[in-house]
Amino acid sequence: MSSVPVSRNASLHGHVAIVSGAARGIGGAVAVALAEAGAKVAVFDSLAADDTLAAATEQGAQCRGWRLDVSDEKAVNRAVAEVAASLGPISILVAAAGVMPSGTVDSALAQWRQVLSVNLDGARHLVAATYAAMVARGDGRIVLVSSVAARQGGLLAGAEYSASKGALVSLGRHIARNGAAHGVRCNIVSPGVIETAMNAQLPKPDPKTLPARRLGTPEDVAGPVVFLCSDQSNYITGIELPINGGQLFYP
Ligand SMILES: NC(=O)c1ccc[n+]([C@@H]2O[C@H](COP(=O)([O-])OP(=O)(O)OC[C@H]3O[C@@H](n4cnc5c(N)ncnc54)[C@H](O)[C@@H]3O)[C@@H](O)[C@H]2O)c1
Repeated sequence: MSSVPVSRNASLHGHVAIVSGAARGIGGAVAVALAEAGAKVAVFDSLAADDTLAAATEQGAQCRGWRLDVSDEKAVNRAVAEVAASLGPISILVAAAGVMPSGTVDSALAQWRQVLSVNLDGARHLVAATYAAMVARGDGRIVLVSSVAARQGGLLAGAEYSASKGALVSLGRHIARNGAAHGVRCNIVSPGVIETAMNAQLPKPDPKTLPARRLGTPEDVAGPVVFLCSDQSNYITGIELPINGGQLFYP
């Protein structure tokens, strides 16, 4: 896992971050970049997160992993309480856990519910479990990982995925609007096609046809997320930041 250059101004010393979906991919790169910026990091994933924890710990940060399903509200509540007890008050939350089947609007309802329960309910459970304490301390930095699919209807992804990512944008804006007076910011990032395990088996756009002439990397997303979690972005809340090297214009 390569690291992201972190500005000295993005120091997150003294902060405790939860990153979901951080065993690998975008969440993994975000966890390592937050650790590099000085935050203590709690990694939430249904998979073991040994690689991420090793890379984050290499940055000198205190990091711990929790193996859980983000769609399980009770498990999320339990883990959040354990993070606060072991690492300290949580001021940063990055909700990156997600699944991406390629269903159509008439795919089985069970699949629709499963995707929404991970991609949308999972983010909701994480925010619900951390928000009140952030408000009480007057410090919260939340980033929800949506997708270009929220706008484009899904290049590689299906109906339920696109709907879940669109809903995350609306949820994030609601949290931003209500949290602003209490020192809680919430922003949304919408990556384009990023090379990860999620899309490894799917046909992807030919890099030559893309404005940046390459697909994205998890580190391309991690840098902007660290910025949105840092004091550098104190007056930024409720934005949806596309991170796509110009792929937004890809048909
Ligand atoms: N890769 C892309 O092109 C792309 C583009 C836009 C948005 N995204 C979003 O970025 C996020 C990260 O995706 P990625 O590309 O790194 O994929 P990935 O599959 O590499 O990582 C997703 C992680 O989420 C975890 N996860 C899945 N379901 C979970 C659950 N129920 N509980 C806990 N953890 C769970 C997985 O174990 C995995 O570690 C996702 O929300 C995805 O929708 C990805």
